[in-house]
Amino acid sequence: QKPQSCAFVIFGVTGDLANRLVIPSLYNLAAAELLPGRFCIIGVARRAMTNEALRESLMRGLHQFATRRVDHKIAHRLLECITSVEADPDDGPSYDRLNEQLQELEAARGTGGNRLFYLATPPDAFAPIVRQLGRLGLLKEDHGAWRRLVIEKPFGTDLASARALNAELLSILNEHQIYRIDHYLGKETVQNILVLRFANGMFEPIWNRHHIDHVQIVVDERLGVGHRGSFYDATGALRDMVPNHLFQLLSLIAMEPPTHFDAHNVRSEKDEVLTAIQTQSEEEALKNSVRGQYTAGKIGDTEISDYRKNPDVRPDSVTETFVALKLSIDNWRWAGVPFYLRTGKALPMKRTEVAIKFREAPFAMFRCTPVEQLAENYLVICIEPNEGITLQFNTKVPGPVIRIDGVQMKFLYKDYFEAEPATGYETLIYDCMIGDNLLFQRADGVEAAWRAVQPFLDAWRKVGTKGLEFYPAGSEGPPGAFELLRRDGRSWRKL
Ligand code: BG6
Repeated sequence: QKPQSCAFVIFGVTGDLANRLVIPSLYNLAAAELLPGRFCIIGVARRAMTNEALRESLMRGLHQFATRRVDHKIAHRLLECITSVEADPDDGPSYDRLNEQLQELEAARGTGGNRLFYLATPPDAFAPIVRQLGRLGLLKEDHGAWRRLVIEKPFGTDLASARALNAELLSILNEHQIYRIDHYLGKETVQNILVLRFANGMFEPIWNRHHIDHVQIVVDERLGVGHRGSFYDATGALRDMVPNHLFQLLSLIAMEPPTHFDAHNVRSEKDEVLTAIQTQSEEEALKNSVRGQYTAGKIGDTEISDYRKNPDVRPDSVTETFVALKLSIDNWRWAGVPFYLRTGKALPMKRTEVAIKFREAPFAMFRCTPVEQLAENYLVICIEPNEGITLQFNTKVPGPVIRIDGVQMKFLYKDYFEAEPATGYETLIYDCMIGDNLLFQRADGVEAAWRAVQPFLDAWRKVGTKGLEFYPAGSEGPPGAFELLRRDGRSWRKL
């Protein structure tokens, strides 16, 4: 299904996000013939650029970041749709000119007044741009034409700023016009969590506190913070990853079955479970969290320097590059089932997974191996790499005497499906154009997520360096993260 005709306005068109992801995704959609019949792209930047210069620079970006060999005919056809426009939200008149140019282009291309504004800009530009667009009435839906806004995390830096941003956006737009991107929802393996749970009859009956002992959500990263030091030092692992990416995984795993597979019902159930995350007191938050910061080390052959030596990081920074949390969900399905979350930089390997640990068999029938020595029963959803699903269980070792050993049954996507390499943004951008909000975050979900992490932010701010653990790059992370589970008689799943 091709989306309706529209104008696609990209703010920050010369930036990293536009070059690395937005344009290559539009290219992949063009190659799949999934762009609208009548279409134009308006590339907005703060400095003036000719159409030719912008097209050439985007073509260079495309060659660098395309996920497949660039077909010149398709690329030219796409880039010819682009018009360069200079506008700065601090300069009102430049937005008046943008408005005129947009209307001229819409008339010339016959796009019917449908508009998608993609803010590929730093987050502090969201509100000023939206204010300008609102002043000119560019976001008002009328005569059947739709107007949509796309923004990408971070949506605020804490609960108060997230509320303020939502209030500002919602004073100009309606919720259904806002598409808040979390790129995790563009991942096939993440979308598949809904299908795994709700298109199969065998998981849902045991998906609860009676059968599940605990859940682990792990997003380990190999890279250090590299050239993103100034952003990262003001942000830290918790804000950067938890209320967004890790909570998307958590909500898909823990939500109740929606009554319909549509944006309203799916998002309501996801947001409901985020609201059920227990709000911890500051004392509990300190007990149930571990903060780490990496020091110099080696990952494979790559030397990683001390986080604090990064030129854009404060030399006495207390920003965490690793965080582990223990959370509880206060509802009937999950009462008493801890959710352990962990994410960090400069760890030995990239590993993104959700591991569901089932309860032990209730009774030791096999005298050769007591229940507690049997392999643990895990269902593991491997998000990245080795995309797939693994089930770990016990099996009899062949032979005349009874011996038991743990084995794994593995489903790997690559064994079943062939997919063109993609950026992960194609579905998201396509959904914005067809008006399906299912894979986007709603204001109440964003706020519920910040509400759940706010006690950790508050408690850490008060204690400063106290409790911050250091771990060498390339190590397993701070020892406290292992203690967090050990004290509950549990451990992180070993590979
Ligand atoms: C981004 C964070 O949102 O997600 C980065 O800002 C992080 O710090 C990245 O590296 C992780 O994404 P992925 O898809 O590589 O797991």
